[in-house]
Amino acid sequence: MTLANDPLAAFWMPFTANRAFKAHPRQLIAAKDMHYTSDDGRKILDGTAGLWAVNAGHCRASIVEAIQKTAAELDYAPPFQLGHPLAFELASRVAALMPEGLDRIFFTNSGSESVDTALKIALAYQRAIGQGTRTRLIGRERGYNGVGFGGISVGGIVNNRRQFGTLLTGVDHLPHTHDIAHNAFSRGQPAWGGHLADNLEAIVALHGPETIAAVIVEPLAGSTGVLPPPAGYLQKLREITTKHSILLIFDEVITGFGRLGGATAAEVLGVTPDLITMAKGLTNAAVPMGAVAVSRHVHDGIVEGGPDGIELFHGYTYSGHPLAAAAGIATLDIYKSEGLFERAAALSGYWEDAVHSLKGKRHVIDIRNMGLVAGIELEPRAGAIGKRAMEVFHTCFDTGLLIRVTGDIIALSPPLILEKAHIDEMIGRIGDVLEMVD
Ligand SMILES: Cc1ncc(COP(=O)(O)O)c(C=O)c1O
Repeated sequence: MTLANDPLAAFWMPFTANRAFKAHPRQLIAAKDMHYTSDDGRKILDGTAGLWAVNAGHCRASIVEAIQKTAAELDYAPPFQLGHPLAFELASRVAALMPEGLDRIFFTNSGSESVDTALKIALAYQRAIGQGTRTRLIGRERGYNGVGFGGISVGGIVNNRRQFGTLLTGVDHLPHTHDIAHNAFSRGQPAWGGHLADNLEAIVALHGPETIAAVIVEPLAGSTGVLPPPAGYLQKLREITTKHSILLIFDEVITGFGRLGGATAAEVLGVTPDLITMAKGLTNAAVPMGAVAVSRHVHDGIVEGGPDGIELFHGYTYSGHPLAAAAGIATLDIYKSEGLFERAAALSGYWEDAVHSLKGKRHVIDIRNMGLVAGIELEPRAGAIGKRAMEVFHTCFDTGLLIRVTGDIIALSPPLILEKAHIDEMIGRIGDVLEMVD
């Protein structure tokens, strides 16, 4: 095949079975509010907010206008030793949404960059305050923290790690919290499993607290199949990290901006970390952007009191890019004016009842939910992990619904503008498709 006779050949698609896709391509060509349009002209209901990202719905006019206006006025401004007003404005707006004290904002271009930035800030902070032996980073099994070397090192997904060598050294992992035997069909936070946070004490005892810089977890693990934190678990992690002067990082790339019914999972779950990573919903995914919210003491530990000059040798050509900043401001305006975080909270009960109505359907072995997110776990086919869910994904898409699957788990995370009728349609369709797929 040459490039001329195969227009799909050149694009090496990310996290995609390229050969399978290119044999049976499915493409999206437009989007508006709750729907995509496929290249064969069908409307596809978006059950995943794109990729946990388009929280305000697609192609919102005010975001489009903000991007267009900024592109014509200030296409780009270098962020090193120079500023532009939109980045400062967005930083202040984001800071105001964060838990009290996390009001210093470092801009990146993605969730992966946010994670690596947060890990680097944690290391730089420990060194700056005279704790330079604290170089270890602790992640968690089944954690997804993006695809940078830092993120896959602390992350806990073997397929994301095994192709890439030895990764960062000095990393350890907490056990994951998923346990169907104890928690099947839990609504919201599972009752069992808070004690799993005590494993952090064992890790601290093994390595010595003076070697550990930070612990990073997703407050609700998304990408490995929607794992809400057991009751008391995050509180315990906070207690143990505080006790040993270890920084706590919440990776809120998917849980931020309304997904759980508040600006952050930290706020909703009542646990305040030292750093929060974000991306996705920050700009409604209209322009790539990520950020790290940093607590004042961590920021000041690095920025205040050091020698003159650059305080943190880190940043990106596109940190705080004008188009992304404009999109972010317009997005936060929509969240506020339409009360979308509150809307997510208000709809979450209806959502919970709807997703749990799939209990008893063919193949379903567990259902989990929080805010406007749900995981529906299917029994894997013998010797063919992930095949059943992939068939469900394709059949849903071909009949008008976009879902996400990971292994044999369906993950749902619709735009926060959805109506109850959309929920009914989504759950009805998934129920029908489960009956169709063997
Ligand atoms: C918790 C979490 N962290 C980091 C990332 C990586 O974000 P990105 O794909 O923008 O690099 C993701 C992406 O889904 C995520 O869910």
